[in-house]
Amino acid sequence: MRHQGSRPARAPRRMPALLMARAPSLLYASAFNRRFEGQSSAIMRAPPALRSPISTERIFGDRAARFRHLTFPRLGARIEQIAPPWFLIGAWVDDEPAGLMMAGPGVTAADMLLKSVSVAPSFRRRGIGRHLLQELETEARARKVSRIAARFVPTMKLAEAFVSLTSHLKWERPRTVSLNLTGEAGLMAQSGGEWPGVKTWLSDPGEFTFEPWRPLTVADEEAMARLRAQSAFRSYLEFTGFAAAIDPACSLHIRRSGALLGWIAATPFQGAMVARYGNRIGRHYRSAYVDESLWRSAALIAGYYHAFSRQGETYGNDSIATYFTDFPGQMALTRRRFASMALSMEEIREVAKTLQPG
Ligand SMILES: CC(C)(COP(=O)(O)OP(=O)(O)OC[C@H]1O[C@@H](n2cnc3c(N)ncnc32)[C@H](O)[C@@H]1OP(=O)(O)O)[C@@H](O)C(=O)NCCC(=O)NCCS
Repeated sequence: MRHQGSRPARAPRRMPALLMARAPSLLYASAFNRRFEGQSSAIMRAPPALRSPISTERIFGDRAARFRHLTFPRLGARIEQIAPPWFLIGAWVDDEPAGLMMAGPGVTAADMLLKSVSVAPSFRRRGIGRHLLQELETEARARKVSRIAARFVPTMKLAEAFVSLTSHLKWERPRTVSLNLTGEAGLMAQSGGEWPGVKTWLSDPGEFTFEPWRPLTVADEEAMARLRAQSAFRSYLEFTGFAAAIDPACSLHIRRSGALLGWIAATPFQGAMVARYGNRIGRHYRSAYVDESLWRSAALIAGYYHAFSRQGETYGNDSIATYFTDFPGQMALTRRRFASMALSMEEIREVAKTLQPG
């Protein structure tokens, strides 16, 4: 790709960008925004076109390292290791890295995920972002993929510019696909416990128990196989990959007469997000599921009530709890019941384009 325009000034060294993976965290948003501090999120007027030629190429290894500053720091730190099926396309203006796009497989075989696209500030509004996304489209067609998608947080400083870019290229309008909520365990338990539907579960649980997490028995494994086969079950609810980290103090099994019908699994959570709240202990509720026969019964919220209460008792009511959901019902419930007492609630949006054959 080549075109002409006026020669721009040198680009600043560090200018990361990010598109979210499947379950992005608040860490991404805050780190991203810190990087962009001082930059306006306002929609700007287009500057004059470039006079120097722009060229794009697939980059890897040492050549990719020159573009490190054009993506999110965590990706940038290992940019040399990016390998198929992931790929990077770099845009040069003369010998200067001006833009970078990273993409790879999406959630299904029919999808491709745009992970990151960024143009150095002094090269913006010259068509580089548009060319990078057109290259993505070309690659997606070559891979016989019918949909390209990207996830982002609307609080990202240049979200408006990104959405405007995708709309310019006839992508669909963004939609909210998931919510991340962070709050204090004590307040979250209190808020859940005040819900009339949960009160009934607490006063009269019948044959139901909310038992501290323990290793699964053979009968539990059989129950798990049945739950996994339910249409609403999603692969990211699997906890086997992080079973060793599950904290039994606040993780639990939902059982009826001993039979496993659901669970809530939390693991220790540290890092920048918890540090924001004064280095309190944090727990990340990574997986929660209940048999579909119990949907709309408030069983899962009763489970969360117990989990948050136990977290509060063990680590203090001001310890931090965070969870993620993409079930529409749970998103609505999160907004209604937990949003008002949350320390933060972040929406994850998706913008996508369905590719017509040909
Ligand atoms: C989003 C971004 C990649 C756009 O790159 P770009 O090279 O400036 O975009 P282009 O010049 O190709 O713009 C193409 C069209 O998109 C729209 N657009 C791009 N930036 C815009 C802005 N700031 N305001 C309004 N519209 C904008 C316009 O319609 C534009 O066409 P026009 O210039 O003829 O009006 C760039 O702003 C950027 O790097 N932002 C920081 C990183 C980021 O937020 N990445 C997205 C998430 S990873």
